[in-house]
Amino acid sequence: MAASRVPTRWISVADDEALAAAACERILRAAGKAIEARGQFLLVLTGGNTPKQVYVRMAKAQADWSRWHFYFGDERCLPVADAERNSRMVCEVWLDRVPVPREQIHPVPAEAGALAAASRYAERLRELGDFDLVLMGLGEDGHTASLFPGHDWGESATAPDVLAVFDSPKPPPERVSLSAARLGRTREMLFLVAGEGKQRAVAEWRRGALLPAAAVSPPAGVDVLVTPPLPNVSRRAS
Ligand code: 6PG
Repeated sequence: MAASRVPTRWISVADDEALAAAACERILRAAGKAIEARGQFLLVLTGGNTPKQVYVRMAKAQADWSRWHFYFGDERCLPVADAERNSRMVCEVWLDRVPVPREQIHPVPAEAGALAAASRYAERLRELGDFDLVLMGLGEDGHTASLFPGHDWGESATAPDVLAVFDSPKPPPERVSLSAARLGRTREMLFLVAGEGKQRAVAEWRRGALLPAAAVSPPAGVDVLVTPPLPNVSRRAS
């Protein structure tokens, strides 16, 4: 385990609404660049409440959805229709509301159990190159995706792309997560961090602590949109 090895750019925003607006702007910008360069946009989504506000906004955006491909950084092992599933939340607020081809939405088959789902999702990712943009959340304990303190984060170059996670401290206990190594294979990575409850984890991350969030290391570094605003970090919206 090592503290962040890549540049971490902190971007303070005034409140949740500003965070959602700035995140949408960045997602759309990344999509534009990827589609222009390669004809498609490979986006990895995260679960949690913070991104939900972003997804609600994205549903109203103008985009060529036929070029977008959606993957998931982690999933909770629950039935497909369970309201706590990340894929269900994303579909409800965003993907069911825009004309994206269904075959371009790639949920983790977590209903099959963590081990089976991890192996099937790894197979799905096998031929895929780098992602264009990976969205990440941050837990109060510094976790990201379903990589929790004290667990295996799959950082090494030989780590599997997808991990079966048991005994998660955040319910449900059984989950599936892309490894830190596979999450790091992306052109851009954007963390969405909101709420007073995250301040301690943010302070530890900034001090160089060994948190899961600091273990993902895409070559271009990571951007962190954060509210409430951090002291000594100038505010900007994008
Ligand atoms: C999940 C997540 C998880 C989440 C963070 C932050 O499935 O639970 O992917 O890593 O992003 O816990 O969640 P909040 O934004 O709700 O605080």
